[in-house]
Amino acid sequence: MAQEMLKASANPLLPVVCKVTKIVDETPDVKTFHVTSENGKPFTPMPGQLGMVSLVDVGEAMFSVTSQGEDHLEFAIKRVGMLTDALHEMEPGQEIAVRGPYGNGFPIDMCKGKDLLFIGGGIGLAPLRSLINYCFENRNDFGHIQIIYGSRSPADLCFKDDIFNNWPKQENTRVDITVDKGDENWTGNEGFVPQILEEVNPSPEGKVAVVCGPPIMIKFVLQSLAKMNFTDDQIVTTLEMRMKCGIGKCGRCNIGSCYVCLDGPVFTLKQLNNMPNEY
Ligand code: FES
Repeated sequence: MAQEMLKASANPLLPVVCKVTKIVDETPDVKTFHVTSENGKPFTPMPGQLGMVSLVDVGEAMFSVTSQGEDHLEFAIKRVGMLTDALHEMEPGQEIAVRGPYGNGFPIDMCKGKDLLFIGGGIGLAPLRSLINYCFENRNDFGHIQIIYGSRSPADLCFKDDIFNNWPKQENTRVDITVDKGDENWTGNEGFVPQILEEVNPSPEGKVAVVCGPPIMIKFVLQSLAKMNFTDDQIVTTLEMRMKCGIGKCGRCNIGSCYVCLDGPVFTLKQLNNMPNEY
């Protein structure tokens, strides 16, 4: 049996039955699910890769693996429809099926030895978190780490323990958090992510910028980075929202002749600029 499960976990097309071991309420509409199989984590993804999560009789969808431990994977899932509603109703101990990994993941070799600037908005921090945690686990491979993250309100900030406690404590690291509008208890930054980015004004020298968030945030962040003289090959983003079947079969992820699921979902801005403007 153990042999069969190990074989299953090596094949991204075979679902592995997993148990939800922990559910963390991140925001009013985002929960993080820790899942583990009888043999530990169902697969070992690289940062930025995704897994297909399925519930029998409900459906399946692709989600980025936001973090992983020795024996579990973590998926941060926003409530947006039938499958995610059903997932949000789950309790620890219940079963789901997971298969993967899918997608190319973040370019670790390109990031090694560089300073990294992470810019995230809302649930867009979920894929970035997989790389941020990887960098902290392999701290000597990376230079200075700077994280700029924002959401609409304090309640909408994901991974509060990481952004307020774990990450700011790491060596050679700076974390700037902002919200569009604070509440009566908020004493931090107020303003949109691109605004805070321009205030922080990071130098592009020796740096890779990794960006993920709502399209409107990305649009203005890219303009700000261009003003700061970041070049298109220093900027990396993920089009993971385009991932559906993940295996080049459904035809729902194409940008021109490119299959996001097979060639991406992580691209440099330079690569994206060589594609038709459909993303
Ligand atoms: S996600 Fe189905 S073809 Fe790419």
